Amino acid sequence: MNNNYLEKFEKMRVAGKLAAQTLDEVTPFIKPGVTTNKIDKICYEYIRDNGGYSAPLFYRGFKNSLCTSLNHVICHGIPSERVLEDGDILNVDVTAIVDGYYGDTSRMFNIGKISVKAKNLIDATYQSMMNAIKILKPGIKLGDIGYEIQSYVEEKNYSVVRDFCGHGISNTFHEPPNILHYGKKNTGVELKPGMTFTIEPMINIGKYESKLLNDGWTAVTKDKSLSAQFEHTLGITENGYEIFTESVKNYTLPPYN
Ligand code: MF3
Ligand code: CO
Ligand code: CO
Repeated sequence: MNNNYLEKFEKMRVAGKLAAQTLDEVTPFIKPGVTTNKIDKICYEYIRDNGGYSAPLFYRGFKNSLCTSLNHVICHGIPSERVLEDGDILNVDVTAIVDGYYGDTSRMFNIGKISVKAKNLIDATYQSMMNAIKILKPGIKLGDIGYEIQSYVEEKNYSVVRDFCGHGISNTFHEPPNILHYGKKNTGVELKPGMTFTIEPMINIGKYESKLLNDGWTAVTKDKSLSAQFEHTLGITENGYEIFTESVKNYTLPPYN
């Protein structure tokens, strides 16, 4: 790893902050009656007006500025004229590019009043991500990250999606290594200072199998069970980690008010 990673970190901080601020910005709009297209439009304009560019737009033919994954959608949901309804749970995933570097982050949102089942899933998904983040430091291995997430959620009888994973990220959107959200302790690549990647566990109430819809993007749970996800972009420092995509408003878990 290039030991001159501080410049890279500085750029990741800026891109990560804009991505997180974009989620902060769209938060008050995410409520019953609003379409996911509306959230997409606010995201596009906010990132553009703040010196960045939305990475999903035109990425491999994707036609929107963010992903909106509702209920049993695991990830890569496409914004549409679908109106958010009381009881829905929604993941909004924003990726901003600033000065050539990427910040990628997602959070869950409650639409109106959600079920206890949904709330528990969201809480566990967030906690699994944070458990994995808290162990990050040079010398641990990628398998340790997966183990933290998998052991925590499987104990609650949830499942970890296998078909999608976290990823290296810096001046490209998706780069090696893959960050699997399941795994065994002390296996896989060792973490080194300067590495930058996402942790973005997708956790299902039912089985882990996914199915891709005909639009070529939307991934749903095969058994139609609810799915939740959170995502942060992080860097490994000399003795720990830095989260680049922390909310400026201290939003962590819904509800955010
Ligand atoms: N933001 C997603 C991720 O976490 C990738 C979305 S790609 C898109 O890696 F094209 F669907 F937007
Ligand atoms: Co990502
Ligand atoms: Co993302």
